[in-house]
Amino acid sequence: MEKTLFICKPDAVRRGLVGEILGRLESKGLRFLALEQRTIAEDEAKEHYVEHSSKGFFDDLVAFITSGPSVLVVVAGEGEVIKIVRGIMGATDPSNANPGTIRGDLATMVSENLVHGSDSLMAAQREIKLFFPNLEA
Ligand code: RTP
Ligand code: MG
Repeated sequence: MEKTLFICKPDAVRRGLVGEILGRLESKGLRFLALEQRTIAEDEAKEHYVEHSSKGFFDDLVAFITSGPSVLVVVAGEGEVIKIVRGIMGATDPSNANPGTIRGDLATMVSENLVHGSDSLMAAQREIKLFFPNLEA
C-alpha cells in the first residue's frame, strides 16, 4: 500500500477547513495511518523544505509553515496514492489550480495554498520519517 505525507498547513487550521480538506481524501477512498495536530518546529520546516533552501521565498515559507498548528497526516490507500493526492490538491499556485481541487476551490495565494503532499516515493519516505519517526515503515 502506497503512503504519502499530507499536511493541512496553518492557514487551513486557522480557516477551519481541516474537516472539509480531509473529507475529500476520505471520500476518495484514502485512509489515515497517523494524524497529529501540532506546530512544526523551525528546524523541521527547514529540513522538510530543504529542496527550496536556495530560493528567494524560503524564509517566508519557513515562517509561514511554523506560524501556527498544522495537521500532519500519513495517508495510505490502494493505487498511486502520491499522484492521487497531488491531483486532489491541485496546482501549487491557486491561480492555476482547476475547480474541483482543494487549491482551486479554497485558496487564492501561492504563499497560503492550504496543503502539502509528498511529490515522489522518495520524498514520501523521507517526510514520513521526519514527522512520524516512530511509525513502522
Ligand atoms: P508543497 O511542497 O507545499 O506541497 O507544495 P508544492 O509541492 O505544490 O510546491 P513546491 O514547489 O514544493 O513549493 C513549496 C511551497 O513553496 C511555496 N512557494 N512559493 N512565491 C513563490 O513563487 C512560491 N513558490 C512556491 C508554496 O507555498 C508551495 O506550496
Ligand atoms: Mg513540494
